[in-house]
Amino acid sequence: MAIRCVEATFRVTATRWPAKGLEPMVEVCFCGRSNVGKSSLLNSLVNRRTLARTSNTPGRTQGINVFEVKFAKAGNNRQGYFVDLPGYGFAAAPESVRRKWRPMMLGYFRDNPRLKAAVVLLDIRREPGEGDFETLEMLEEFEIPTLAVVTKIDKVSKGKRGGDLKRIASALGMDDWHDLRAVSSQDGTGIQDLLGDIWEVFGTPLTIPTQGTEEGPGG
Ligand code: GTP
Ligand code: MG
Repeated sequence: MAIRCVEATFRVTATRWPAKGLEPMVEVCFCGRSNVGKSSLLNSLVNRRTLARTSNTPGRTQGINVFEVKFAKAGNNRQGYFVDLPGYGFAAAPESVRRKWRPMMLGYFRDNPRLKAAVVLLDIRREPGEGDFETLEMLEEFEIPTLAVVTKIDKVSKGKRGGDLKRIASALGMDDWHDLRAVSSQDGTGIQDLLGDIWEVFGTPLTIPTQGTEEGPGG
């Protein structure tokens, strides 16, 4: 049964977390080096061409961009937030921007019980790099379930994809390369499968905070 997006709205760009004004809903975040295709994947998942800004200029997404999304499957709805995180590994980014990256990521991952999954994007044509390993280590430290997603697979011939996926899985120390998801935001390959994973994540119950402790009267 196909999963389709029935609602997708930009909510806020934040530099600190928790961002003000968000409801308690499950979050799925998107991490990856600059230009790997985070914003493009987000747009494909919600089937909108321009919800998240994409560009040929790496380093475009500099804050934490939050989108409210709702999906439908067989008459049921599930909703949550998609969180587009700033990219890393862009050598030409100003030093001030690069210095802020790690603290911003840590600030988002730490004490975030609503974050139920992190999608880490990897380009099928590249070796996983320092920023990818640093991100995966942070996610492991905070025990955030991680989906490693290899993207831009349309750039590689079908016959070569299996070998590239094995190479990436091995670099990441994964036991089974089939645990990698392979997608193309350009031609839609793998998008429904990934939506299936996200559907499950959005079905995860949130622990309700004790009344009054989180957002008491007067904020
Ligand atoms: P930053 O926000 O700068 O970190 O980049 P990003 O990770 O959000 O990348 P973005 O989605 O802006 O994509 C970067 C470039 O890659 C754009 O020119 C996209 O059109 C292209 N791109 C993204 N995904 C795919 C894909 O699956 N296939 C192909 N062929 N191109 C893609
Ligand atoms: Mg982006």
